[in-house]
Amino acid sequence: MSDLETIILQELLTASPEYVSGEAVAERLDLSRVSIRSRFEKMRQEGFDFEAVRNRGYRIKHEPPTLHSSLLNAYLALKHVSVPVLFLETVDSTNSEAERQLAQGCDTPSVVVSTRQTEGRGRMGRVWFSDIDKNIYMSFIFRPQLPPDKMKKFTLWMGLTVCEFVNDTYAAPVQIKWPNDLVCEGKKVAGILTEARVDSDHTRDLIFGIGLNVNTRPNQWPTGIAGIATSFSEICGESLNINEFAASMIQVLLQGYDAFIADDYEDKLIRSWGDYDSLQGRTITAKTAQGIVTGYGAGIDAEGALVIEQANGTKQIVHAGDVSLTMKGVS
Ligand code: BTN
Repeated sequence: MSDLETIILQELLTASPEYVSGEAVAERLDLSRVSIRSRFEKMRQEGFDFEAVRNRGYRIKHEPPTLHSSLLNAYLALKHVSVPVLFLETVDSTNSEAERQLAQGCDTPSVVVSTRQTEGRGRMGRVWFSDIDKNIYMSFIFRPQLPPDKMKKFTLWMGLTVCEFVNDTYAAPVQIKWPNDLVCEGKKVAGILTEARVDSDHTRDLIFGIGLNVNTRPNQWPTGIAGIATSFSEICGESLNINEFAASMIQVLLQGYDAFIADDYEDKLIRSWGDYDSLQGRTITAKTAQGIVTGYGAGIDAEGALVIEQANGTKQIVHAGDVSLTMKGVS
């Protein structure tokens, strides 16, 4: 985690907007000034721009627009988040890589982060478009050791955690579409894919995968996705610092996981769901294994199942399914 670049970047971020003396850094790291200079040169080639002023030192002028391993680790260190991050420029799927890591007995929690996926997966066998390096694809690896029925509300809780964070921190009016999408005005800004390996009495491994559309501009989506996807930059009206955003997201999701494991989440989930529920009061259709259910979205029950209310007041409970808004055809 503490590679040289990460330490240098951490110093620069901490001192910003002041300068950091190259000499002082060289001394602290027991390196020659030439070697420090060559590090800066390497980072320039990776998309950084530094301002170097005689007798004052260096400061960051511009950060790379895509995820960068050392910069992400530097932001994590500034937030005092200590977690192993496996950073891959390209991977088939971060969830698949997480599976491989688990098979090799990796530490938990840990995180797999990538700038591109060649086989990004969504729920119900769908493809998650992952060909734009301005977004975040990441998977968290946990070993919760909880009975499977205790895990039922995990995805909902983690989705709510992300939703609340982006509303509070970025003023992004993002809502949750049960059970695993984050949407804004009917367009998807993030999706969650939770996969678990369950023994009879406990959840042995848990992979929480999340794709976050961060800085993709509307004209960059391929046809077919443009109409249904949005990004945080589009919602906020400005580009986000993707490495800082990813570090915050990792911090918030690890805290969310800890609260879940400590059983310190249920009241808040039930209390806050309505604040962010994109289906509340809307006419919706749920395709379930038992058939199609249509009615008004009426929140979630104590088990986290979707409640659909008919005009006559009858309520139907949907435990699993694919939900769309009946009027606008957003799925
Ligand atoms: C969905 O909306 O159906 C869920 C999409 C989940 C996408 C993320 S991207 C990171 C992780 N790796 C994957 O292959 N999928 C999840």
